[in-house]
Amino acid sequence: MANRILITEPIIEEPVEALREQYDVTVGERGYYDKVAHLKQDISRFDAVLSLLSNPITEEVIEAAESLKIIANLAAGYDNIDVEAAREASIAVANTPGVLTEATADATFALLLSAARRLPEAEQYLREGHFDGWDPLGFLGKELNGSSLGIFGMGKIGTAVARRARGFGMDILYHNRNRVNPSVESEVDATYVESVHELAEKSDILCLNCPLNDGTRHAVDQPVLEALGPEGILVNTARGAVVDEKALAEALHTNVIGAAALDVFEDEPAITDALFDAPNCIMTPHIGSGTNTTRLKMGMLAVNSIKAALNNEEIPNVVSG
Ligand code: DGY
Repeated sequence: MANRILITEPIIEEPVEALREQYDVTVGERGYYDKVAHLKQDISRFDAVLSLLSNPITEEVIEAAESLKIIANLAAGYDNIDVEAAREASIAVANTPGVLTEATADATFALLLSAARRLPEAEQYLREGHFDGWDPLGFLGKELNGSSLGIFGMGKIGTAVARRARGFGMDILYHNRNRVNPSVESEVDATYVESVHELAEKSDILCLNCPLNDGTRHAVDQPVLEALGPEGILVNTARGAVVDEKALAEALHTNVIGAAALDVFEDEPAITDALFDAPNCIMTPHIGSGTNTTRLKMGMLAVNSIKAALNNEEIPNVVSG
């Protein structure tokens, strides 16, 4: 009998077809497996799951699995999975690193530019019929050339953001759990600082590109926002919970910081109400890696990990085996 694979919801077609050629594939309905109860109820029927970051693969879910060999998460991050519980149950966990670096760095820069030059606000003004000719005082924003960019999380994506920022003439500072290789520092001419607080203090724009873990949860809290200051801009394409979202909403409403551009939220898909009426807040629905090219590559990496696990071969991109 063919192995049974659960793809928790519709994804780009090619990876689904690649799995269908060999396996018995079930594709869930969008959002259905965002609930622990649904995963728990069905997981025992599958040998592999291709999961999304919205699927809570908790200890309870893992305990309900009977023949599961691998959880292949269609994301670089895997904070939705209890990796320790999977390890104990001898279920491999794989992710899709590397291939989404450039798309996510592009999205980060799109948000950064939109916030610095107030594009959504200006566009809305025009669409509402207010444009009455060139205005010497109209929508004055922040010039990137000569501004300082603080990058929290100088991994692959952070470094790709830094490369783009160099092209815009920005000065680059960064903070990371460990200082990065000197060759990376010199390639993007980045200066290391000791803490997120110091990074915020010294940056005009603070960009978050770190993973979510115990050390980064709520790393951007009220004191850090105060350090960023009333002209400062926060850009987050990493994970919502790196920021204390309530403190951020308050900081925007009281002009503690100047603006925020957010692609990720603390408790997705819920968003703190007060962010919606903060005029200086740009929000997009977690689309950082959202290009056809990247989603295809992510899908194929997940397929390769599943095939390897089911063939008892070495699993590519395993984060816990
Ligand atoms: C990831 O890969 O972790 C992103 O957040 C989704 O592309």
